[in-house]
Amino acid sequence: MAVDWNVYLSDAEADIASATAPEELAPVRAKYLGRDSELGKALRAIRDRDTGIALNDSRKQLEELIESRRRELERARLDERLSGDGFDVTLPGEELPVGTLHPTTQIRRMVEDAFIGLGYEIREDREVETVEYNFDKLAFASTHPTRSPRATLFLDENTLLRTETSPSQIHHLEHLEPPVYMVSIGRVYRRDDIDATHFPIFHQFEGLAVDRGITLADLKGTLLRVARTLFGEDRRVRFRTHFFPFTEPSIEPDISCGICGGAGCRTCKFTGWTEFGGAGMVDPAVFENVGVDPEQWSGFAFGCGLERTAQLRHDIPDIRALWEGDLRVLRQF
Ligand code: PHE
Repeated sequence: MAVDWNVYLSDAEADIASATAPEELAPVRAKYLGRDSELGKALRAIRDRDTGIALNDSRKQLEELIESRRRELERARLDERLSGDGFDVTLPGEELPVGTLHPTTQIRRMVEDAFIGLGYEIREDREVETVEYNFDKLAFASTHPTRSPRATLFLDENTLLRTETSPSQIHHLEHLEPPVYMVSIGRVYRRDDIDATHFPIFHQFEGLAVDRGITLADLKGTLLRVARTLFGEDRRVRFRTHFFPFTEPSIEPDISCGICGGAGCRTCKFTGWTEFGGAGMVDPAVFENVGVDPEQWSGFAFGCGLERTAQLRHDIPDIRALWEGDLRVLRQF
């Protein structure tokens, strides 16, 4: 029996139009376009070109109708879901992995918080310095070994990558009258070979307090408080005498080794202690270099490594871990 394709098409159109959900289109499709549909069979039995063109046009027309109805129904369903009571627009979305701050940055922020809590202001200074600020005004002797290009990275005769954050002391005092309480944080550079405890770039935090009647006891109290904040109440702190060109007297704070608990191990070189930084009372010569009267004012300064602080806090035996960017390490912080 010959199929009346006009009737076939208008029946299909009616069925497509009366589908009320996208899923209802599948059986309609099977009925009019499937393998066993009249059209499906006729397409397989094509004998002449004209019939072929006509039947293929009808097939295409039906495919398009089904597709556009499917889009229409899906859009209607989405609209309904968005406007219906069942959709809670305040539900949190899918969480994206955001990573964490680098441990050195985390420590930097802890240090900043600790000193802001003590009333210090935080500053940052240039990494490219002059001989004048890195050495001369800090009262380095003309023969001091760090003045050598063997120890320090010079850009030209008078310009260098700062070897410490101490030039910040000079910049700060040249700008501001005492009393001052500041901490300066940033990168410093030294011509050191890379090993477990040395890296040619690292970060320091430099403290400076200048006021009336400041003593060594204030310095020790401040360093002790900060060590407690950074490393916890259980770690022991001791001070050794030392020498720096810009402090007199000079001391070095040590923190008890967290890896062996002070018993001695490879990381602390079997001493039970790890050096935390350098410190001392500001040398009167430095005050004179910046026009501060040492008869009226006294102060202390200290400089400590951020990476060293991270190592001491987290018991990291090798400083290189903080520079390699290995996610297996960084994800642990
Ligand atoms: N600048 C010294 C260093 O890098 C540390 C220091 C800072 C010592 C301030 C005393 C006072 O070794």
